Amino acid sequence: MQISLMCLCIGGDPKGIQVAVVNNETSSSSFSQSLLSFLDNSSVQQVNLSHADAFAGAYNGEYWGVIGFGKNFTSYLTKRMIQRQVSKEVVDGGSVHVWLDLTNQQIAMMLQKKLADAFEDFVQYKMGNMSYLASFPVKFEEPIYGSLNSDFTTFVTPGAVLSITFYLAVGLTALSFVIERKEGLMDRCWVAGVSSLETVLAHLISQLFVISIQVILLLLLMLLVFKIPNEGNLVLVIALIVLQGVTGISFGLVISSSIDDEQNANQAALGIFYPNLIVSGIIWPVECIPYPLRYISLALPQTYASEALRCIMYRGWGLSRMMVWRGFAVTLGWNTFFLILATVILKLRT
Ligand SMILES: *[C@@H]1O[C@H](CO)[C@@H](O)[C@H](O)[C@H]1NC(C)=O
Ligand SMILES: *[C@@H]1O[C@H](CO)[C@@H](O)[C@H](O)[C@H]1NC(C)=O
Ligand SMILES: *[C@@H]1O[C@H](CO)[C@@H](O)[C@H](O)[C@H]1NC(C)=O
Repeated sequence: MQISLMCLCIGGDPKGIQVAVVNNETSSSSFSQSLLSFLDNSSVQQVNLSHADAFAGAYNGEYWGVIGFGKNFTSYLTKRMIQRQVSKEVVDGGSVHVWLDLTNQQIAMMLQKKLADAFEDFVQYKMGNMSYLASFPVKFEEPIYGSLNSDFTTFVTPGAVLSITFYLAVGLTALSFVIERKEGLMDRCWVAGVSSLETVLAHLISQLFVISIQVILLLLLMLLVFKIPNEGNLVLVIALIVLQGVTGISFGLVISSSIDDEQNANQAALGIFYPNLIVSGIIWPVECIPYPLRYISLALPQTYASEALRCIMYRGWGLSRMMVWRGFAVTLGWNTFFLILATVILKLRT
């Protein structure tokens, strides 16, 4: 459910965004009409209004922006295209004027992109194979990795998959010892001569089955149902996700070996969730984190691991690349550390 909700709700294009259009050009064969017809109508819903109504509506929050065309848009734009030197008024009157409500960055960015796309299509339509004359002097070639229409879902999925696996695993084991201790099961084990390492490994291995089923379901949904691209080796993808599950199990065992009652164990597991999600660079790139905090971020189990998973899935890299093996190394390091810590704490507290 978590992975489906994430793929369905995060990163898509906004639909049905209402935008006011003030068109001061009256003729129906004008360039402004033609340009507006290229604007993607599933995302942007155009509402034709007068200047005053458009701004009143935008200030009331009814429209996400106002698109305005001057009275002489067609003739001025033509002048701009064919004359060598034109006045400032002609450039201004031959431009599309846009006022945006920038309080929602995703919607505003989508509108900017759709308008740029519409203008490109319009130029292509009007000038045909002469359209190179009006092209933007910065040209984006074929991407080196990834695709031109990759969205936020593509970025966020690898990190989210790892953090979902990690926290489901924490949830599996955070209460294990707490309950066993309460019911006296632990004492019976100690009397029978079971060592603390054996206890920890027994929990780890039995929960590994649960994690494996979760990972299989998660991969089926991600790759087959939601068609997240995977360029890399599936074995590496599965190995990294399962290892993160093991990290989660081990971390849960640390919590349950060190805390005695359910409420505190729950609070420890939940309290760590949000800070870890934010600082691990899962929902926003780690490059945006200011420096002293970045060191903490890089030490966390999911930061390098989600970077490694992105490199495997989208760049098709293998274990010979530093960015990939670093993710595995950090994950294995945390696994070992948590397992030893859980064993030691259990031993000290018997
Ligand atoms: C969007 O435009 C297409 C083609 O111009 C048209 O067939 C379709 O009905 C329009 N959809 C809406 C919601 O206006
Ligand atoms: C359109 O006309 C109105 C009223 O005449 C004027 O206030 C507005 O600035 C014009 N819009 C543009 C983009 O020139
Ligand atoms: C449009 O062009 C006409 C004549 O070319 C000019 O008189 C008028 O001032 C222009 N209008 C605007 C709003 O620039």
